[in-house]
Amino acid sequence: MRAEDILPLLPEGIESWGTLAQRLGFTPRELELSLFQLSASGYPVLISERGAGLPFGTPAPQILFPLLKGRFGRPYQYLGVVSSTQDVLRTWSEATVGAVVLAERQTRGRGRFGRVWESPPGNLYFSVLLENSADPLLPLRAGLALLAAAGVGKLKWPNDLLAPDGRKLAGILVEAEGDRVFLGVGINVNVAPLPNSAALKEFSQVNRAQILAEFLWALERWLEEKKEAVLYAWSEQNVTLGRRILVRTGQEILEGEAIGLGERGELLIRTKKGVHAVYAGDVTLLGTADDVKDPKVGEGEA
Ligand code: BTN
Repeated sequence: MRAEDILPLLPEGIESWGTLAQRLGFTPRELELSLFQLSASGYPVLISERGAGLPFGTPAPQILFPLLKGRFGRPYQYLGVVSSTQDVLRTWSEATVGAVVLAERQTRGRGRFGRVWESPPGNLYFSVLLENSADPLLPLRAGLALLAAAGVGKLKWPNDLLAPDGRKLAGILVEAEGDRVFLGVGINVNVAPLPNSAALKEFSQVNRAQILAEFLWALERWLEEKKEAVLYAWSEQNVTLGRRILVRTGQEILEGEAIGLGERGELLIRTKKGVHAVYAGDVTLLGTADDVKDPKVGEGEA
């Protein structure tokens, strides 16, 4: 048996060496070796004198699957260390709509606008396969799902989840290729990797498997909601509208007041030169924690 094969058989919490070895048909020594191998591959295995297992809320399939409420989350790949879950999903030929790739750590996690997404162990890094229905509201729908899963914070256009003090809790990267969309989600659950980022555990008790299951279920539902409901819910839960902001689009930097959302989820900004509609861009909220940052690192990046 390969070390990876015993991963789905490990319990949530510690099980004694004797019971575990007997259940898996290993000698305690063989078992210990496999567990060390899993740990070296990036999986959060608990190994103690009493026994071994997985920390509570580990998003391993045997812990995640009973929590899933819809069809998203299957098929599922639970991995240790990868370059980026986006790339693993892209090359996974058996993946169907709702398939998820999750890794405990990424060596080349990427964020919006070509930024690096710091991916230390303890957080959630995953990608969901969606069909490309060219829905301009997809980023807002995904942001609403993020908020539902986190249970705390507000949304900065289009879908950054910010803590009440403006630090970044989570972000979403939407990449499309032909008829497929790769929705990449990074949630700082236990670790805030940068000074201007926050971790969910600062605000509530956290369980990674539960947060992932909630996100997938909320996403499935928000994808089906009417446009009006999405625009209304997003407007109710955001920290962008009515604020003085700076927006970097690919072409220009605009400064002004965020005055509304258009029908296609675009941000309307009133600048000295008039009202502009921005369809894709990076927003900085001026005069807040979001504004105080190292420009080399990038706003709200985590
Ligand atoms: C952002 O810039 O706010 C978006 C961050 C998205 C990060 C996630 S982590 C899982 C997936 N894999 C990646 O390389 N990026 C996304």
